[in-house]
Amino acid sequence: MPDTDLLSLQIEHMGILQSRYEQVLEHHGYDGLLISSGAAHVRYGDDQSWHFQGYGPFLHWTGLAGFEHAWLVIRRGQKPLLSLYQPVDFWHASLELGQEPWLKEFELRFSESPSAPALDGMNQLAVIGDPSLLTGVPGEHNPDALCAAFDETRVHKTAYEIACLAHANKLAMAGHRAARDAFLAGASEFDINLAYQRATQQREVDAPYPSIIGVNEHAGILHYQYYDTAAPKKSRSLLIDAGVRYRGYCSDITRTTAGVGEGRFAALAQGLEQLQFRLCKMVAPGVDYVDIHRKTHLGIAALLSAAGLINDLSDRDMVADGVTRAFFPHGIGHFLGVQVHDVAGKPVPSPADAPFLRLMRTLEPGMVVTIEPGLYFTPSLLEPLLSGPLGRHINRPLLDELQGCGGIRIEDNVVVTDTGGRNLTREAEG
Ligand code: GLY
Ligand code: MN
Ligand code: MN
Repeated sequence: MPDTDLLSLQIEHMGILQSRYEQVLEHHGYDGLLISSGAAHVRYGDDQSWHFQGYGPFLHWTGLAGFEHAWLVIRRGQKPLLSLYQPVDFWHASLELGQEPWLKEFELRFSESPSAPALDGMNQLAVIGDPSLLTGVPGEHNPDALCAAFDETRVHKTAYEIACLAHANKLAMAGHRAARDAFLAGASEFDINLAYQRATQQREVDAPYPSIIGVNEHAGILHYQYYDTAAPKKSRSLLIDAGVRYRGYCSDITRTTAGVGEGRFAALAQGLEQLQFRLCKMVAPGVDYVDIHRKTHLGIAALLSAAGLINDLSDRDMVADGVTRAFFPHGIGHFLGVQVHDVAGKPVPSPADAPFLRLMRTLEPGMVVTIEPGLYFTPSLLEPLLSGPLGRHINRPLLDELQGCGGIRIEDNVVVTDTGGRNLTREAEG
């Protein structure tokens, strides 16, 4: 059982949610809300299902990521009702609930049916969840404005949520250390993944997202999704982007390690880490997150010059001409919570110079963001530069050497505090 501080923070968290959700319901003219946890879909033409991870609003209240066909009812002025599906089933085990204090805050029911509980006395009921599971359920399904307002209740994390995110960081860092050691011992991507799983005691399917484990060239594929079972002839670089889910809450951490004898790549990775530290230090209330993204491009430009990869172009020209975009094509990060790319980050569309940025907001205390600059040697992105007029500024022999190391990403999880930022990942690193 977690420590008593965490358990009492959880009770406080539930009180805060009750008040936030009641305000939203009242504002939008509803008496109550029914939330479906969701259920795994059966694969087409098969009798096997995709692996299940629960719906965000259900996790926000319960943290229970593995409970299918559960329902939660939020009513103004009443305890929430939690209905858990427990069929008589000799094929499968039922998930057990620990005897924790937060359960006393719910009216708890167990049902042998996957159907929604019958609800009396509610005139204006909203129902949210996977539409394919809501057929025939009375009430208004997934009203846009209401769903957006509930997403907004997840933006400012409670003290309980921050404690869970901090612990998810601790658990993941143990995995990152084990992964780095396995890489330095010459392991394959597959074995590095096993080392990560063993250290985190987390099944692959329960992770917040599939771990990205790229050795050598594979480090340059942003969401590389396979694992080589053969060890590389030479272990030049490792990029691992992997997290842990703890009581519903996700960590999302990336580390890059240079192999022995990779001096130039190691220097670049160190340079990127220094830049990442400076970007993390920018996290503070009132800061426009898009500015952090734009500062990253200037920082990458300075690194490219200092490494001698790009010559005779100013940092500003490198950004304006799209050179830095070819090396750093993604956004600087996103909100983090019960979903790895947490909701409500884009009240406005991404600007033209940052099409993949997932967060376009001014930072406020309680928000939790990732800061994840990257620098990759991706042939499909660099080819147009090399063959165009800017190609003459690129140090081709050095690029050819570094291409075998794939790329670098360094990613931390940072809480916006009243006065600045709190880096949960570096805290966990110790
Ligand atoms: N792990 C996915 C991301 O960093 O956004
Ligand atoms: Mn990541
Ligand atoms: Mn991320």
